[in-house]
Amino acid sequence: MSFPVRRALHSVAGRTPASRILGNLPAPASTLPNRLRIQRAIPATAAGFHTVPAARQAEKKNNNAQATGAGSFARTDDSITVEYPPDEQLPTEETVAGTDRAGAHVFPTLANFSLQGKVGVVTGGARGLGLVMGQGMVTSGSDLAIVDLNKEEATRQAQSIVETFRADHPDKKPPKVTAHYADVSDPTSVEACIAEIVSEHGRIDNLVTSAGFTENFEAVAYPIERMRKLWGVNVDGTYLFATSVARHLMARNAKGSMVFIGSMSGAIVNVPQPQAPYNAAKAAVRHLCASLSVEWAGAGIRVNCISPGYMLTALTQKILDDKPDLHRQWTSLIPQGRMGAPEDLMGPVTFLLSDASNYVTGADLRVDGGYTVT
Ligand SMILES: NC(=O)c1ccc[n+]([C@@H]2O[C@H](COP(=O)([O-])OP(=O)(O)OC[C@H]3O[C@@H](n4cnc5c(N)ncnc54)[C@H](O)[C@@H]3O)[C@@H](O)[C@H]2O)c1
Repeated sequence: MSFPVRRALHSVAGRTPASRILGNLPAPASTLPNRLRIQRAIPATAAGFHTVPAARQAEKKNNNAQATGAGSFARTDDSITVEYPPDEQLPTEETVAGTDRAGAHVFPTLANFSLQGKVGVVTGGARGLGLVMGQGMVTSGSDLAIVDLNKEEATRQAQSIVETFRADHPDKKPPKVTAHYADVSDPTSVEACIAEIVSEHGRIDNLVTSAGFTENFEAVAYPIERMRKLWGVNVDGTYLFATSVARHLMARNAKGSMVFIGSMSGAIVNVPQPQAPYNAAKAAVRHLCASLSVEWAGAGIRVNCISPGYMLTALTQKILDDKPDLHRQWTSLIPQGRMGAPEDLMGPVTFLLSDASNYVTGADLRVDGGYTVT
């Protein structure tokens, strides 16, 4: 195809290749630390990774020049690099207000959606999706144990959730919400944490595994130690917490419900940011859910997965403030035309933990605004 024809077709399709969407922006003023910025064309050596072979460098350069070609919109862009930030650089979040105000003329909902009298655990609950899902569990009647690497933030959020409940329901007994330290990827830490929760709450009924993280590096330059850490938290962490809670439930001969937080990335390949190890880790979480649901069905333990799409947390908001065109590109691929709010997960997690979903196990509930059906 000659260049003018190709240019005309592109203009008709209204499409801009990923490399141009991401590459031709003026550098925005950013409050983000350097290492969190989505960077363009970072040399592999500058990023501290091994060097991409010279022949491939030349090929990549050539590919970038031809990025207007067919398929360019559905490709990853190797130059996008986002490293997970250290704890002290992460934002804190406000407790969500008003989620339990039903209004004067609302009919009561089905009683089996209630989590009244249950003790739930949420890993990675100090921030982001885990924090809001934990709050949704409390609003639905559950006591809650928040587990996180960052115990200080978990403690602050536990207090805030109880204060919000007290302000909304001055006449009701507030739920018990506690904060606990664990590194979910470390078996000893997980066992100690579960023992602490059981000693404070008496038992555990429900579990949500939200501790996890993603990073963006092209696969050929992804340091193996970073990859092991990513899988350690996302996959081992889910496995360790789930099996430990399952042992506790089995010892009590009690039924329970677990929700693993996977990602739509476990079913599709996101573009344009490269994240192969994360995608594979989330596929593992999804199939771990299916496998454990079969293994534990006879014990009365249900295991389901929620696979969120692009969700707007404080962390993703900060990244997108730095790169607004990435936000436009993502939302252009979402049928509902917006990123999800963490509150969009409150209903799905309550449903899957509650008796309303008694006959649902091994399911993967995609909460992605329709992303994965297109
Ligand atoms: N935000 C999204 O768009 C999105 C989309 C799909 C899936 N997810 C998944 O949802 C989950 C939560 O993501 P988020 O956006 O809320 O992230 P986040 O970074 O805002 O929160 C994650 C929490 O997990 C904690 N954590 C990290 N490693 C831990 C460890 N080893 N042990 C204990 N706690 C640890 C962190 O301290 C943090 O509080 C992750 O599994 C993520 O992969 C997120």
